[in-house]
Amino acid sequence: MSTQSGLSRVIPATEVTEGAGVTVHRTIGTPTLRNLDPFMMLDHFNTDNPDDYIAGFPSHPHRGFITFTYMIDGDMEHKDSMGNTGNLGPGGAQWMKAASGVIHSEMPKQENGLMRGFQLWINLPAANKMDTPEYQEYKADAFPVVETSGYRVKVIMGTFADASSPIKDEITDVSYLDVQLEPGEKFSHDLPTVNNSFLYVYGDSGQLDGQHAPLHTLTTLANKEAPHNFVAGEQGARFVLVSGKPINEPVVQYGPFVMNTREEIDQAMRDYQENNFVRDRAWVNRKK
Ligand code: CO
Repeated sequence: MSTQSGLSRVIPATEVTEGAGVTVHRTIGTPTLRNLDPFMMLDHFNTDNPDDYIAGFPSHPHRGFITFTYMIDGDMEHKDSMGNTGNLGPGGAQWMKAASGVIHSEMPKQENGLMRGFQLWINLPAANKMDTPEYQEYKADAFPVVETSGYRVKVIMGTFADASSPIKDEITDVSYLDVQLEPGEKFSHDLPTVNNSFLYVYGDSGQLDGQHAPLHTLTTLANKEAPHNFVAGEQGARFVLVSGKPINEPVVQYGPFVMNTREEIDQAMRDYQENNFVRDRAWVNRKK
């Protein structure tokens, strides 16, 4: 489903309880915006109350897509069925191509303090849904920053100006920028017109293409030949700007499984129940 047209849509975040009792702010993946092809879900976590995050995300499966976590503040420990143990600290990011199937846990490594960041689900085309899982993780200093007197852009995925993210993803070709704007400053950016794109404000607010862009809201970006403009308010603004090429295939989703048909969902559920979910235990190969 492509929701893009000449008009932008503003989607306020909905509070959702996930994992073992974690509060997240969801925009993509709610009844208002089921998906924004190729994006299936966007969760923003932003709390300094340990009760909102301490329970974490114990062992759970994913199949058919990529989970992408960008941490702004806080520490999370990741363990998965590929044999990876990751430590996701402030400014770090994790790209996990679940594809044919990964079981993992994501647990806070802190007992108090601020936990802030995003998890984005990026769909995979049918041809890649049952690929061998892959994993990439980088710490904050691996991501290039492009700075002018008015803004600071951290390149999380894709490229901006002459800077490229260390994350390699030849299938989805997603771009993901973390933008920090000084008060009253403007940020202009051209996006490929074939893409579906969105902007999510996570610090203060501003005007996006002349329309109010409040805190904790996602705005879908209408396709146009001209650049999109964001002007920060009196306090400045922080937002992520994400863009990806739609896959244009049927989507059947059941929780953490995103496939093309009902039969494939049934298969995923059967595999999980029969303890036959993880097809590719990459760590077995690595031990040789
Ligand atoms: Co997960």
